Amino acid sequence: MFSTLVAVSTLLVGANALTPNNIMRRDNSLTSLKYTSVGGSGSYNKVTDLVPGDWPSCTVSDYCQTESVTVSGNIAPFAEELTVAFRGPMTISNIAVYQPSNSSAATWSQVSSWTAGGAANNLVFMNNKGGGLSGEWSVCGGASQSYANGTWDGAAASPMDSVMDGNLPAGEEVNIVTGNACNSTNACSAFTRGTANHGWADSKMFVVTAQMPDSSDASQVPAIWALNAQVVWAAQYGCNCRNEGPVGCGELDIAEVLYGTGDDPTAAISEIYSFKGATGSGASAFARPVDSPTTFAVVFDESSDQISIQELTEWDYTQTAVTRSIVSGYLDASGGETVSFSSNSRRADKRSIFGAHHRRRNH
Ligand SMILES: *[C@@H]1O[C@H](CO)[C@@H](O)[C@H](O)[C@H]1NC(C)=O
Ligand SMILES: *[C@@H]1O[C@H](CO)[C@@H](O)[C@H](O)[C@H]1NC(C)=O
Ligand SMILES: *[C@@H]1O[C@H](CO)[C@@H](O)[C@H](O)[C@H]1NC(C)=O
Repeated sequence: MFSTLVAVSTLLVGANALTPNNIMRRDNSLTSLKYTSVGGSGSYNKVTDLVPGDWPSCTVSDYCQTESVTVSGNIAPFAEELTVAFRGPMTISNIAVYQPSNSSAATWSQVSSWTAGGAANNLVFMNNKGGGLSGEWSVCGGASQSYANGTWDGAAASPMDSVMDGNLPAGEEVNIVTGNACNSTNACSAFTRGTANHGWADSKMFVVTAQMPDSSDASQVPAIWALNAQVVWAAQYGCNCRNEGPVGCGELDIAEVLYGTGDDPTAAISEIYSFKGATGSGASAFARPVDSPTTFAVVFDESSDQISIQELTEWDYTQTAVTRSIVSGYLDASGGETVSFSSNSRRADKRSIFGAHHRRRNH
């Protein structure tokens, strides 16, 4: 273990070390996937208001009020604030987020982190159980976000109110945001309700170490995915800007196990959705980390207009910064699969590309 940690830290000082040597290689599954030409110009339907309605049922036909907004640029709309969501059965041991101070900075600093059983730094776990101890519920909007409690199966009154051991039960979902609340002095860029915190904007690298154990109920399958934070600010399941494809505000399925006819419960696929359409990992897939944890690193890079998803053999979560050359090394690594998102071309797939989410709860 000591020698492998040395190898990782050596990468940090080697400005010429453009090929990080900790990318996992497996013979029969994907370990490195890169989306190129991610951004562009387009529009999505931004939520401007969610009319709560009156008990006992929602009779407001236009309760989900939106306006079309145009966005453009590299990795648009993924340069907007993002959240990362997790669905059990899963055990999460570590999370860290790295960001550059600007798109040309030589260093990406650790801005958020959390260790199972330990403390969090600028990171809050939320879930969609608003209306009780935190957040709100309405007949038209359903549940807003709530602060997740320590066992990730209920809400808490305050952020990170207890130590969390990282065990996400089957069927439960949590998502991470920063410790910065959306409020009048630190406003979020779109409609929010209940409990809402800022996500991570511009370039960012998420690193997570997690295990996805076998499901005792085969229909309960794990997933890790990133969403435009606006989705959870309104309603992750209900009135939001997500869509899947045209007029969508952005979703990246990082590693999602599918449950359905013909789906392999030992595989974890990736899909990307924006106003441009959708594409994904196609016929290949990551291996579901059933027996031991694995580490996924996801880089959203504005300067190269790319997103990479890689499985790493290890990660030193104590490192407080990563050089740009290391980030470039991941983005430029050979041996993986590269998928262009330059147009709304859809790839041959293991399944209907828009079918997957219907297998995830309410989704
Ligand atoms: C980008 O960030 C670096 C490091 O913080 C800084 O030295 C540089 O001046 C910044 N560049 C721009 C264009 O803001
Ligand atoms: C979290 O909430 C669930 C549902 O209310 C409850 O069963 C569980 O005991 C709570 N966990 C903690 C640590 O409070
Ligand atoms: C707004 O949120 C910020 C960041 O969480 C916090 O520092 C500040 O105290 C809050 N302000 C108000 C008025 O609640």
